[in-house]
Amino acid sequence: MRMAVLTSGGDAPGMNAAIHTVVKAGIARGHEVLGVRGGFEGLMKGELEPLRLVEVDDVSRMGGTFLGSARAPRFRESEGRAEAAGRMGEAKLDGLVVIGGNGSLAGARALADESDVSVVGVPASIDNDIGHTALAIGVDTAVNTIVEACDRIADTARAHRRAFVVEVMGRECGFLAMRAGIAAEADAILFNERGLDKEGMLEHLRHVVTRAFAPGRQKRRVLVIKAEGVPVATPELARALESGLAAEGSSVEVRETILGHVVRGGNPSAMDRLIAQRLGFGAVRSLENAASGVMLGWDVPGDHGAPTGDPRVRRVRLAEVLEETRSLLDGTSPLTRGRVALLEQVEDILGR
Ligand code: F6P
Repeated sequence: MRMAVLTSGGDAPGMNAAIHTVVKAGIARGHEVLGVRGGFEGLMKGELEPLRLVEVDDVSRMGGTFLGSARAPRFRESEGRAEAAGRMGEAKLDGLVVIGGNGSLAGARALADESDVSVVGVPASIDNDIGHTALAIGVDTAVNTIVEACDRIADTARAHRRAFVVEVMGRECGFLAMRAGIAAEADAILFNERGLDKEGMLEHLRHVVTRAFAPGRQKRRVLVIKAEGVPVATPELARALESGLAAEGSSVEVRETILGHVVRGGNPSAMDRLIAQRLGFGAVRSLENAASGVMLGWDVPGDHGAPTGDPRVRRVRLAEVLEETRSLLDGTSPLTRGRVALLEQVEDILGR
């Protein structure tokens, strides 16, 4: 077969490990593998070139993506996709592996429907907002990065007995905030799926801070993890918390840190490399089996989809992935409801 691989959308640590495996397994199994530079944008421009083994030696340990990535608004239009399909025809491709987040997987699905080439998706996004995969590539590293950053912030917060609001990426999804918040011993975790308005959040935070610094407790720091999707700006929230506390007679200082793209960079964890390599291998095998319009999922909740040779990797139709993604984000998925319920259960314990 002649197959190509691309990375699209926001990069995620572990993307290189997935490319590595597609190239290495592809070549080992007798295929030709091409790399597309710059995601769907590069595909529309025909920027494809054969990849050799030497080009993927040692890339698994590197963050980002050596193929480059892009957000490609033109690819959302059918004209853009027709251009891409034309380029795939010129390159005589039989298969394409798309490594990326939910926007990229939507693009992969459209391309699978609209071209003669088999297209398979591999989920990669630090946001973990993709349906039918327990984890996407990049999430584990991002959580570790957040926890490390919070540990550092806790050192300085303890020195001054301060409260910190730390904003983490994740777009509309609170998963990173929830997971990292628990691991970092956060006192409170704010995420949009919880549905609290600004006043509700402030009331909870005032209560947590006052209790933490009360004479009977004498905690030295308060750490609040706030998901990017919460529709109140982090500095605004921090100032409102500080002035609310002052109005109650407290002199606690509140500082804020927005971790931003720091969370997306860095060498992937062993776990992310492993997930990427196994999903990448599953992608090559799926193309060999003439599968198209599917995604390889890791520890797929409810064992949805079809088995592959790997017990932790299943193949799910992209149409179903995108539907589940929508319900994860609008809060109707039982998985989202379960996460919110779990956090509500432990909210009071976290804030002690
Ligand atoms: O989807 C990954 C992500 O890092 C989100 O968490 C964040 O909202 C967004 O991408 C940032 O995008 P950009 O790098 O284009 O600013």
